[in-house]
Amino acid sequence: MKIISKSSEETIKIGRDIASYLKKGDIVAFTGELGSGKTTLIKGIVKALTDREATSPSFVLINEYPGQLPVFHFDLYRLSCKIEVDTIGWEEYIDKGIILIEWAERIIKVLPIEKTIFIHLAIQNGKRIITIKGLKINRRKKNDKQRKGIARAKSQDS
Ligand SMILES: Nc1ncnc2c1ncn2[C@@H]1O[C@H](COP(=O)(O)OP(=O)(O)OP(=O)(O)O)[C@@H](O)[C@H]1O
Ligand SMILES: [Mg+2]
Repeated sequence: MKIISKSSEETIKIGRDIASYLKKGDIVAFTGELGSGKTTLIKGIVKALTDREATSPSFVLINEYPGQLPVFHFDLYRLSCKIEVDTIGWEEYIDKGIILIEWAERIIKVLPIEKTIFIHLAIQNGKRIITIKGLKINRRKKNDKQRKGIARAKSQDS
């Protein structure tokens, strides 16, 4: 799936939409050049899931956003070698919430493919081309149906 974003506001909106399809245990791997909008997209996801403002964790490696569904935001920009990647212990966070990884290029070979959604951002004439792979987009529809089902069941109650 390819989406074009013309502004950072639009990218935030796309992030909010992506968030609605995420579930506990998902890992989202963000790749793409410097300034391509990875953190901006993550801001949208984090706001939707936890109502918090995401900031780039460049200097601390991980930011944790508590919520009903906690979000763990890694930025691997500073990691240079495989030994460093092995020491961050990101695996401990799997199944505790949702893991978002910026500069996932550094770790891509060891990510569990069945849990991972791949999002690549590219800059083209000032716009951002967002390519998404592995997002199960029928999830929300299912939930919507369930919600409708619950609403119907509730109306029959009274
Ligand atoms: N369509 C767009 N989507 C996202 N950001 C945009 C867009 N158009 C312009 N920008 C600008 O590009 C910059 C993107 O920065 P952002 O920190 O999100 O990128 P990044 O990929 O996380 O960078 P880094 O590689 O340094 O972590 C911001 O200053 C933002 O305002
Ligand atoms: Mg960033």
